[in-house]
Amino acid sequence: MNRDEATLRIRLLTDDINHHNYLYYVMAQPEITDYDFDMLLEELNRLEKDFPDLALPDSPTQRVGGQVTREFRSVVHTYPMLSLGNTYSESELSDFDGRIRKTIDEQFEYICELKFDGVSISLTYQDGLLVQAVTRGDGVQGDDVTANVRTIRSIPLKLRGSGYPSQFEVRGEIIMPRKGFDAFNEERIEIGEAPFANPRNATAGSLKMQDSAEVAKRPLDNFVYSLLGENLSLRSHLESLKALNSWGFKTSEHTRLCSSLDDVVAFINETGLIRSNLPYDIDGIVIKVNLVAQQQLLGFTAKSPRWAISYKFKAEQVVTKLLSIDYQVGRTGAVTPVANLRPVQLAGTVVKRASLHNADIIEKLDVRPGDQVFVEKGGEIIPKIIGVDYSKRDLFSEPVAFITNCPECDTRLERIEGEAVWYCPNEDNCPPQIKGKLEHFISRKAMNIDSLGEGKVEMLFDNGLVKNVADLYDLTYEMLFGLEKVIGGVEGKKGKKLSFKEKTAENILQGIERSKSVPFERVLYAIGIRYVGETVAKKLARHYKNMDSLSNAGLEELITVEEIGDKIAGSIVAYFSEPKHLEMIARLKEAGVMMEQPETANLSDKLSGRVFVVSGVFSRFSRDQIKLLIEVHGGKNAGSVSKNTDYLLAGEKMGPEKRKKAEQLSVAIITEEEFIGMIS
Ligand code: IVH
Repeated sequence: MNRDEATLRIRLLTDDINHHNYLYYVMAQPEITDYDFDMLLEELNRLEKDFPDLALPDSPTQRVGGQVTREFRSVVHTYPMLSLGNTYSESELSDFDGRIRKTIDEQFEYICELKFDGVSISLTYQDGLLVQAVTRGDGVQGDDVTANVRTIRSIPLKLRGSGYPSQFEVRGEIIMPRKGFDAFNEERIEIGEAPFANPRNATAGSLKMQDSAEVAKRPLDNFVYSLLGENLSLRSHLESLKALNSWGFKTSEHTRLCSSLDDVVAFINETGLIRSNLPYDIDGIVIKVNLVAQQQLLGFTAKSPRWAISYKFKAEQVVTKLLSIDYQVGRTGAVTPVANLRPVQLAGTVVKRASLHNADIIEKLDVRPGDQVFVEKGGEIIPKIIGVDYSKRDLFSEPVAFITNCPECDTRLERIEGEAVWYCPNEDNCPPQIKGKLEHFISRKAMNIDSLGEGKVEMLFDNGLVKNVADLYDLTYEMLFGLEKVIGGVEGKKGKKLSFKEKTAENILQGIERSKSVPFERVLYAIGIRYVGETVAKKLARHYKNMDSLSNAGLEELITVEEIGDKIAGSIVAYFSEPKHLEMIARLKEAGVMMEQPETANLSDKLSGRVFVVSGVFSRFSRDQIKLLIEVHGGKNAGSVSKNTDYLLAGEKMGPEKRKKAEQLSVAIITEEEFIGMIS
């Protein structure tokens, strides 16, 4: 393809992909399959690589990030980012309404909107292109987080439609929908990182990350709710929202024009009812005077507009009695205290249990069975005990003595120094740990044996057929067929008998057989090494290629692998130092489970045995592309510079620490061009 053809094709692909992004992320109405979308994106990626200077400013390839910001530039807001006055009751709302009526003696309307519980953002567009994204900061100046915000697919890089001002600002809220938040937190827990308390914290943390490629992986979304600029021709807030929507922004459908305070209150009440069903968190309602002329008449106080106010939902809270504390044992042996409560209605559901997290929290709250406790369901999904009504405490109550032995197998619990969690070390004989490990092994992201569910695994375990994951591969039709379990039996009454029929037994065996072709990286995740989640398993599998080399890796070597720190490395070494684990792995291997990465057709062996550390931003390739190139030419990637490193491949804006370390250890520092020379 020549330059002219490429120019045209790049424009076409850019527009096409942006359009499909819009349909998918803003309208939630995709028109093409993910596969077709990926094909378009891949073609654009290729062309931009061949003709880097032709890449357009609104190219969707920016959505995957890559730019690293060492320090966020501070930017003074053209229009200060004000806050809103808060109200908590109908009477306070009525005061607000009264103040407005004093200034405006004609008919007026309110617009009610959701108050999104996220992080506010100010977006600047110039000639239809996103040029800057700044956080609220102190309201006067905030941080330039443009590179990170560009990765959020529901924020247009280039506007659609027409009629937009040549320069303007849009204000909105960046949020992390609950479902994405849950999955994201789960992954963090798996790799031993502290989970975020709520989606707002996760959003704020994400926007402040230095590597935008990491931000691109986080499930961020947004809603916009205000338009600012000079000489705008829009007469009302509702018109602004409609215009914003037509230019490709995501606005909320939960918006209502109200002609009286009663209408406003109705909207508040209705929203209160659906609040827990929304896919994201809100903490109230924002009420705004609709007409711009009337807003101008009302003006601002030092901190907030007089024409708008928020109504905050109370964090729903109830008082109930703490009946007792249970202790649950997870698959890793972690023991979690759970409160049993006198059942109570809270935020639309009956709550019977609440999380108590760990021993430290129990001690800090000094919560005791029999206490009247405050239970809240705020931004978090699981209700939690937030306090104790000490005045109602029974005189004879005693502080909780955290259990010393496992509630399931009576083994003495252990605590790793500096950690709040107690573990049961009896991993081979403690039933919930064994069942938990089996359930993890067969789960979708692991070996994906969907013909076996939780219940069936339990049956196999209870009947003594499987004690560890390797036993699954020894199951036969004879062992399964006719296997029975009585469920729902109560005293004096027979329960229902469940037994495996022909088909069930066959399906189970088939599912187990199929799992033998699950790739090595998922096998590595499935065996359940503490702190080795999906992502870490992938990195390890790609680095070590097979189970043997991973099991022989020492601590020092492991920590040089990307994303592997002391904690994960320590856990891996400890895992492989246990003969019983090695034996189990040998049995899995014997059964035909994949223990190595498939042979990738390497392009060459030019970098064979060479260890690279790739750092900074590159002009021809993305960092991930460079790492892939290293691998397909036989080399290895490491995350940090050590004496084992052969080359530091230095891009722009590389961290000075890495360079210093490389110089100290006399590691060769090479440029992107030099690297390309090595492989071409
Ligand atoms: S309007 C002049 N509308 O609430 C104030 N704000 O306390 C303009 N927020 O910092 C804000 N949803 O982060 C507005 N529909 C909405 C909102 C909203 C959430 C946040 C925003 C702002 C804070 C004000």
